[in-house]
Amino acid sequence: MYRPTYAVINKDILKENIKEIKKTYPSYEYYIGVVKNDAYHHGIKIVNELIKGGINYLAVSSLDEAILVRKINKNIPILCLEVISLDYLDLIIKNKITITVESLSYLKKLVNQDVNDLITIHFAVDSGMHRLGFSKEEELTKAYMLIKESKNLYLEGIYSHFATSGIQDIYYDYQVKRFLKITKNIYLEDIPIVHLGRSLTLVSHEKLNFCNGIRLGIVMYGFNQSRKINSKYQLLKIKRIQKKYHLSKTTLENNLKVKPSFALYSSVMSRRKIKKGEFVGYGANIVNESGYIYTICIGYADGVDKNFKYVLINKQKCLIIADCMDMLLVFSQNKYEVGSKVEIFGENRSIFEVLKTLNINAYHLFNQISNRVPRIYESKGDKNGF
Ligand SMILES: Cc1ncc(COP(=O)(O)O)c(C=O)c1O
Repeated sequence: MYRPTYAVINKDILKENIKEIKKTYPSYEYYIGVVKNDAYHHGIKIVNELIKGGINYLAVSSLDEAILVRKINKNIPILCLEVISLDYLDLIIKNKITITVESLSYLKKLVNQDVNDLITIHFAVDSGMHRLGFSKEEELTKAYMLIKESKNLYLEGIYSHFATSGIQDIYYDYQVKRFLKITKNIYLEDIPIVHLGRSLTLVSHEKLNFCNGIRLGIVMYGFNQSRKINSKYQLLKIKRIQKKYHLSKTTLENNLKVKPSFALYSSVMSRRKIKKGEFVGYGANIVNESGYIYTICIGYADGVDKNFKYVLINKQKCLIIADCMDMLLVFSQNKYEVGSKVEIFGENRSIFEVLKTLNINAYHLFNQISNRVPRIYESKGDKNGF
């Protein structure tokens, strides 16, 4: 790492987050850590920390991601949430990947493959999102029967995915009902893992009695999406909607204390004096006061642009005047040294404040911090290592 721009991921916080989630919501058997997209851009290396914290299953998007995870951990079960082409069955078997079966036609092709090994599968059910999964009970029933007759397929799980929180909308309840309707001819209680919810579901609803698994994404990375109630009026409004549409019981605020573990830093590459009225950067942005322009080694190719509004040098705000692909030009009247550390977000500017400024959610922010920014891993005992 030769460029002084890096993200710091605190492994202890990640581990503590999982422990806190399990302590607050102890009634699930399977805590499935969603580590797609390079563990929400925290870096896939963190999987073993998540496992140490209590994650006992992992979920990824693709076979490529699954193989990367398998290199890091030989034993943890890994569910691939996307449909994998059966051309890669040898890799699925070799890497012990649990696959998603979402249609009868795919299952029929799978059944006709000439394999001697056991393939573990989870059925996906489309309970309303119209993204992936069985949406008709007849098809799911046929699929269930096919599996029962197959020697090489092990139906370990069944899952669905929620579109909303269900706090002020009818869709969560609708999806639960749809799921139960689609699965009414199969024995859910005979399927070892039933998992419908994600982070938002965890903090918004009690565990459904037929579920024993929960998929944890953004909550593991430190974001408690529970609905914050700011006023009596807001609460009344929610209660009125819940009563009107007979919505199932929801949890509004909770005591779950999870923390983000991701901070982002860079450095001052250059400093120059600037006079009021001179211009700076692409588009010739006029400076309103005399002071200094600092060139920072981070730009929109790293995921940081003008919309961040300011960065911190020596904990002091410096306004972003212009952005480039690889650099930011920031202004301050204070004099700082070349090489000074720059905080984009971390201990002095919270990630929550950045999200508010950018008006985006944490999923998008993490995704935005590109992979060219090296991730440094920190924990109390060991700095920068695994
Ligand atoms: C099928 C599925 N389950 C779980 C998750 C995790 O969601 P969250 O981060 O909201 O917990 C995702 C995220 O994209 C998903 O696609």
